[in-house]
Amino acid sequence: MTIRIVPKQRVCQLLGGVLIAASQALTAAPADNESMSHGEYVSILGDCVACHTVPGGEPFAGGVRLPTPIGDIIATNITPSTSAGIGNYSLEQFDAAVRQGIRADGKRLYPAMPYTAYAKVSDEDIAAMYEWFMNEVEPVEQRPPATELPFPFNIRLSMSAWNLLFLDDQPFTPDPSQSEEWNRGAYLVEGLTHCGTCHTPRNLLMAEDNDRALAGGAVGAWAAPDITPNPETGIGDWSSEEIVQYMKTGSIAKSQASGPMAEAVDHSLRYVTDQDLHAMAVYLKSLPAAEAGEVVQAVHTWGGEGDKLAEVRGIDWPDDRDQLSGPQLFDAYCAACHQAAAQGTPDGVMPALFNNTATGRTQTNNLALVILGGIHWVAEGHEVHMPGFAHELSDQQITTLSNYLTDMYGNPEAEVTVDQVAALREGTATADGQPDLLLLVRIGLLVGVVVVILLVIWLLRRRRHHRSHY
Ligand code: HEC
Ligand code: HEC
Ligand code: HEC
Repeated sequence: MTIRIVPKQRVCQLLGGVLIAASQALTAAPADNESMSHGEYVSILGDCVACHTVPGGEPFAGGVRLPTPIGDIIATNITPSTSAGIGNYSLEQFDAAVRQGIRADGKRLYPAMPYTAYAKVSDEDIAAMYEWFMNEVEPVEQRPPATELPFPFNIRLSMSAWNLLFLDDQPFTPDPSQSEEWNRGAYLVEGLTHCGTCHTPRNLLMAEDNDRALAGGAVGAWAAPDITPNPETGIGDWSSEEIVQYMKTGSIAKSQASGPMAEAVDHSLRYVTDQDLHAMAVYLKSLPAAEAGEVVQAVHTWGGEGDKLAEVRGIDWPDDRDQLSGPQLFDAYCAACHQAAAQGTPDGVMPALFNNTATGRTQTNNLALVILGGIHWVAEGHEVHMPGFAHELSDQQITTLSNYLTDMYGNPEAEVTVDQVAALREGTATADGQPDLLLLVRIGLLVGVVVVILLVIWLLRRRRHHRSHY
């Protein structure tokens, strides 16, 4: 079996041990998708490994915990083990699980498994992937712990109410008025590569709001930005080449992938053929631009080269290290790589921190998370490495430094607070606002929907029952 996996670089590890898991061996196969069977390629496009493999664990053995506002949903073992995995699944059952969220025992899967996106996958691709999982993946005879959510979510049937409302289980239908390339891109973006799982905002019931497809969503504390052609908030100003390059390498001058996006590049996108990446870029560029409130300037155009080193060089540090200034912190911890005036290195390996989406957004979670956790993965032919500073820098220092970066090199409207950094460090923050209140509303709504549906079913049954009596 030729699986290429870098253990998932999860936020908790980033904040705690930094880089431990990520530096474990990458099965150092080069990206050579010609050496791959079609089934394996499809599974890589779908990034099945991201959720179904724990860092350093056996491929596809499950056990990854996906946090949701109502508790962790645990990904299952999808190796062909007949006792612990999907070894007994027929092609039809595999198909139902992947495209409709129905397990072999007829129970519903939670939409943490992105079957709403995979619903668009073609019959051929499902069959090729099934063959690959059944014949090429090593069976692992261990079952991860079961998902246990609180009532009413433990009733998996409640997901059929959700599906009724939100699952569009029509496979992808090409648009004959568009080019073949566009259609290939649409098929990949809407389906297998499930960009919307992270980049599309969700409604109160956690379903993707398709009227605002790819307009920007949340992955826990990470903000997945607008990737529609809006020139200010999105990627309207990016050339197709830049979009391709970003997906392939995770890095262009105006934006570098970190967190969940670095994982998507690492596990999946960098193995995608240039032709497919190009098709995806063509499709992305054709989408309607998202509406974006009051944005005064494109996120990647803020700031410029400069430094305040004259203020800090030769000056003693204060005894209370929380009193260190932005320029002092930058000089001590960042300038060695990002250079004195934050201009980066000429080869682009160390990016400039101005004209960079990382410092141009008013949503600042990602900026603080990158400083806490760093970036680390092994790209094609080189290592992408920025250390995390969770151990070295206090919440106050990260706050001072981040605000200095956005003032000096980015969008001065952006703000980072000490409470925000503390919550990000503890893993209690979310990128889409007040979790507690929203959670209550969500639970209320879902219970309401379930009750109504059960009532309708009951009424229908009763009617039928009555009819059969008369
Ligand atoms: C974003 C995370 C995520 C990705 C990506 C993902 N899965 Fe899943 N998958 C899950 C979770 C979580 C479950 C368990 C859900 C539950 O218990 O309701 C699951 C369950 C399944 C099941 C049902 C197994 C069983 O009997 O319990 C199958 C089959 C499956 N996934 C296949 C795949 C395939 C094939 C891919 C890639 C094309 C994939 N998954 C990608 C999260 C994911
Ligand atoms: C697992 C969640 C996830 C998936 C899946 C995902 N993204 Fe992302 N994406 C993110 C996050 C989070 C960021 C922000 C990363 C950062 O700040 O470094 C991001 C950033 C980006 C950016 C940079 C935007 C900017 O303004 O800097 C682009 C472009 C992008 N994603 C495109 C895509 C495309 C295309 C897909 C599908 C092929 C995709 N992403 C799939 C989470 C995801
Ligand atoms: C050892 C070198 C190194 C040091 C030290 C370093 N960085 Fe980085 N940083 C990098 C590299 C490399 C990247 C880009 C990775 C890529 O191209 O994908 C990066 C990327 C970034 C990004 C962009 C990330 C994104 O999501 O868009 C920010 C912001 C950043 N660094 C801030 C800092 C700050 C603040 C410090 C000091 C506390 C710092 N860096 C220290 C090497 C370093």
